[in-house]
Amino acid sequence: MKGVGKFGEVMAGEKGNLSYDELASRLEKIIRSKSQPKAITDFVCRELRKIPHYSWVGIYAVEGDTLVLRSWAGPSATQHTRIPIGQGICGAAITEDATVIVPDVGRDPRYLQCFLNTRSEIVVPVRKTGVPIGEIDIDSESLAAFTPTDRAFLESVAEDLASVL
Ligand code: SME
Repeated sequence: MKGVGKFGEVMAGEKGNLSYDELASRLEKIIRSKSQPKAITDFVCRELRKIPHYSWVGIYAVEGDTLVLRSWAGPSATQHTRIPIGQGICGAAITEDATVIVPDVGRDPRYLQCFLNTRSEIVVPVRKTGVPIGEIDIDSESLAAFTPTDRAFLESVAEDLASVL
């Protein structure tokens, strides 16, 4: 369904309609608040998970040659709390310095499995002065779940997150 605003899309959420634009402005406010970075990244993960096709949401930070999980929201914890850059879809987003969308994780040899139900994944780098310093990682239980709207929305959230990672 089309709405108004930058992303112009509304979804049916658990508690009524949910729009990318409303979510984006809520996230922008909290990210720009002077709250503690960990409180902010926890909040961002919880809010993003309200999008029905986002089953698991994590925020990783680059620490040397490793991605370290800072915050997550989802039904269960991942064993991949530290991922060497160069491994997984998560590593690829940093080495390629690009958003990576995998429509079918079962067909991508780079994929590191966390959850049996995951079918597709998107990883969006967070950059500071052009250098990747972290990323947003989202799993979905649907095949090819991530649309150009998801990509544009998450890239704009990632831009804001540069100030807190
Ligand atoms: N699937 C990721 C690993 C992280 S989990 O999805 C939480 C990857 O391939 O890098």
